[in-house]
Amino acid sequence: MKISVVGTGYVGLVSGVCLAEKGHQVTCVDIDPAKVEQINQGIPPIYEAGLEALLRKNIGHGLQATTDLRSAVMESELSLIAVGTPFDGQHIDLKYIKAVAEQIGTVLRQKDHYHVVVVKSTVVPGTTDDVVLPILEAASGKKAGESFGVGMNPEFLKEGEAIADFMNPDRIVYGGIDAKTNGVLQEMYSVFSDVDQLATNCKTAEMIKYTANSLLATMISFSNEIGNLCTAVGGIDVVEVMQGVHLDKRLSPILADGRRITPAFTTYLEAGCGFGGSCFPKDVKALVAYGAQRSSPMQILDAVLQVNADQPERMVTLLKKHFPELSGLKIALLGLAFKPGTDDIRESPSIPVAQALLDAGAVVQAFDPIASQEASHVLSGDRITFCPDLSQTLNGVDAVLLMTRWAEFAEIPSLLAGLEQPPLVIDGRRMLPKHSVPRYEGIGL
Ligand code: UGA
Repeated sequence: MKISVVGTGYVGLVSGVCLAEKGHQVTCVDIDPAKVEQINQGIPPIYEAGLEALLRKNIGHGLQATTDLRSAVMESELSLIAVGTPFDGQHIDLKYIKAVAEQIGTVLRQKDHYHVVVVKSTVVPGTTDDVVLPILEAASGKKAGESFGVGMNPEFLKEGEAIADFMNPDRIVYGGIDAKTNGVLQEMYSVFSDVDQLATNCKTAEMIKYTANSLLATMISFSNEIGNLCTAVGGIDVVEVMQGVHLDKRLSPILADGRRITPAFTTYLEAGCGFGGSCFPKDVKALVAYGAQRSSPMQILDAVLQVNADQPERMVTLLKKHFPELSGLKIALLGLAFKPGTDDIRESPSIPVAQALLDAGAVVQAFDPIASQEASHVLSGDRITFCPDLSQTLNGVDAVLLMTRWAEFAEIPSLLAGLEQPPLVIDGRRMLPKHSVPRYEGIGL
């Protein structure tokens, strides 16, 4: 099938490259000529594991990039809109979606063949039907459902695992304004066999995306709130509490041979110093704002955000329990990325914690296996240094704050072993056994 993908950011480029790998003829469109040039040379403008290899393999063979939206739409049967939906703190900003819909509509005015326009960006329910469709009709002078179809197809890609998630999806969800649109989407996804596909309307597809992310965010804040209560009560460790909860066979099913499956879902049911990234905080905030607009307050999600906003500060509270005066205290801050496997620091709990430590006069030695450079753009001053490796970061510190679940932090106990004056370790991800270091403190302990 001939497909055009408008927007070559994280979602657009991954989708374009993977659809080409699956045998479609894909044209990626972007307004930035430098990005288009890079993509045509096989160099991805963003980092995502496995992306470069797939791009190099497919570019020039069923995959191309261009700035020419008109010819890309004219020559394809389906266009995916995958441009950004920035969040202004209250609502998602649809200016890029609207601009692209307008441009595609203008091309459709001159196109004789049926074409399907699909929104892939995350947008609140109603956006495709009530914003994109009318713009397409006005710009094309044609009627949706007759000359062209309109659909919505959310993505469920995790940063760092986006290629694997796209190539081996757990589900494919799409919504269309009519059966003909859904038929074209079904054809596009027919290259993925043995995957559950849910065909619905546009609004439901939009709602599924927000609901999926909001559920995971809710699980995290719920676990964090339980952890905070454990801390307040004393004598209860949230790690054991959650182990006991996970052993419910509805959460970790027992197979006929007696073995237990531990679904990845349970990892969202663990206490820590808060969730971050470019999706959960933004999506939950957008849904809360959307509910408020429609007089349907999202009370649970409101609380999910409040718990998460307070969670990083709890690391500082735990530190102050042992060191009431932070001025001059030397702290190792471990992990700057919002999760392991990425250099993305957007909404990372480490950033407000670093800021609070610096504001209180502490001296911070920060380390992240790959996100230090990103973090150095937002954290600066003569009391913060970015260390090149873990052991150097731990050198001579009074306390260690473990903020991101990087696998290499499991080495902390061996690196601290034998020190005469070992630092206090505050485990914000509860990843170290609590007796593995001489002085241990943790979220939910
Ligand atoms: C998230 C969703 O997991 C994807 O399904 C979705 O497609 C994506 O948002 C999106 O909307 O684009 P991502 O933001 O890459 O993906 O991050 P996750 O790996 O889910 O992590 C989000 C937060 O949850 C992080 O702060 C992380 O620390 C926390 N987390 C993650 C856990 O608490 N436990 C885990 O097992 C994984």
